[in-house]
Amino acid sequence: MRKCSILYYTSRKFLTPQTTFLEERAVLCYSKAEMTRKSAASEGIFITLEGPEGSGKSTHLERLSAYLKRKGLEVLCTREPGGTRVGERLREILLSPRNRGMSPLTELLLYLASRAQHVEEVVRPALAQGKAVISTRFSDSSLTYQGYGRGLDKQLIRKMNRVATGGLKPDLTILLDIDIAQGLKRARAGGKGDRLEQEAREFHQRVREGYLKLAKREPKRIKIVKVKGSIGQVQKRIRYYVDELV
Ligand SMILES: Nc1ncnc2c1ncn2[C@@H]1O[C@H](COP(=O)(O)OP(=O)(O)OP(=O)(O)O)[C@@H](O)[C@H]1O
Ligand SMILES: [Mg+2]
Repeated sequence: MRKCSILYYTSRKFLTPQTTFLEERAVLCYSKAEMTRKSAASEGIFITLEGPEGSGKSTHLERLSAYLKRKGLEVLCTREPGGTRVGERLREILLSPRNRGMSPLTELLLYLASRAQHVEEVVRPALAQGKAVISTRFSDSSLTYQGYGRGLDKQLIRKMNRVATGGLKPDLTILLDIDIAQGLKRARAGGKGDRLEQEAREFHQRVREGYLKLAKREPKRIKIVKVKGSIGQVQKRIRYYVDELV
């Protein structure tokens, strides 16, 4: 458990039946503020790579990992959906084109199930050991794909994300922003693509716009990196933001 959660839990224990409403608000607000303080809250660092299909998430995961290792950090690379034994089984179900009849709510719940397992089994333990954790996709993907893409209630997804992650948020999210046609072409090269990749272009357009809206909402955490030029040029832009963090 990270320091912040312990502090939050402890502060709740201090609330006695005699505590006034205002005192209670003050204690809880203080501990919530502590929870969100990045450096005090985490031992390691948590970076996520987000973006539409074929934007280069997997490619840059590897390159960024090598870069951070050269800097002397212990790095753990992981992915969603997946990252655990249970999560990888869920990934198969989620991405198989044979499951085209899956309802949006079922889809959301399966992604969240994978996330809950991932956070508990992989991400939190690695952060507690001081590692740099890099994940392709995390909570933002549920908001963009199931919220903006499928039209499910975004407030509900935010709440459910909090349940699945126990409130864990990335320290930094790199949004790889790519033209949809170009991204889909790259993602589908060599095949028809997975169940999500096979969705209509309009769906992917809503996902891309959703990502840009999220970045506007949380500019400190989510940094937009334009996917233009070579892989090396894009990686250089990513490292600019990562260097601010490590
Ligand atoms: N800047 C770039 N220039 C040229 N090719 C690129 C660039 N970035 C990525 N690619 C290529 O595009 C393809 C898709 O990249 P990658 O698999 O990393 O994307 P992804 O975001 O992980 O896709 P998916 O959503 O399907 O997992 C790969 O073949 C990769 O080499
Ligand atoms: Mg990938």
